[in-house]
Amino acid sequence: MKKVLTFGVFDYLHYGHLKLFERASKFGDYLIVAVQVDEEIHKTKPNAKVLYNFKQRSEFVNEIKFVNEVIAYHQVDEDIKKIDFDVFVVGGDQKHGGIQRAIKWCKQNNKEVVRLKRTEGISSTIIKEKILK
Ligand code: CTP
Repeated sequence: MKKVLTFGVFDYLHYGHLKLFERASKFGDYLIVAVQVDEEIHKTKPNAKVLYNFKQRSEFVNEIKFVNEVIAYHQVDEDIKKIDFDVFVVGGDQKHGGIQRAIKWCKQNNKEVVRLKRTEGISSTIIKEKILK
C-alpha cells in the first residue's frame, strides 16, 4: 500500500484544503494528514490567529472522505522521520526551513516528494479577515 503524507495547520477548513486532500490522495492508496499542535503554530506562522484548537481542527480533517488517518505533529522536519509513508505532498506555499529540511530528508531516504499548487483565492487568513470580522 502506497501511503501519502501531508502537513498543515488546517484552521477553519475550506475549499482549498478539500482540493489539496483530493489531489494528494491520488498519489497513493492511503492519505495521512498531519495536523500541527497548537503550541507550535506560531513558529511557522508568527501572525496566525488560530480559530480552532488542535482537537477541533483534527476532527474537521478526519471527516473528509479522502483522508484515511489524522496524526499530530510539532515540527515537520523532526516528525517526518517517525512516520511510515511513501510520498510527501507539499503545499505550494510551504517553503520555510522546516519544510526544506524535510524535503532534503525525503530525498536522502528514497521518499517521493510532490509539490501541489494552491487553490487560488482562498485561505484561512482570508476567511478570518473578511468573513469573521
Ligand atoms: N492550501 C491549498 N490551497 C489553499 C490554501 C491552502 O492548497 N488555497 C494548502 C497549503 O498549501 C498547505 C495546506 O493547504 O499544503 C495547509 O495550509 P494551511 O496553511 O493550513 O492553510 P491556509 O489557508 O494557507 O492558512 P493561512 O491563511 O493561515 O496561511
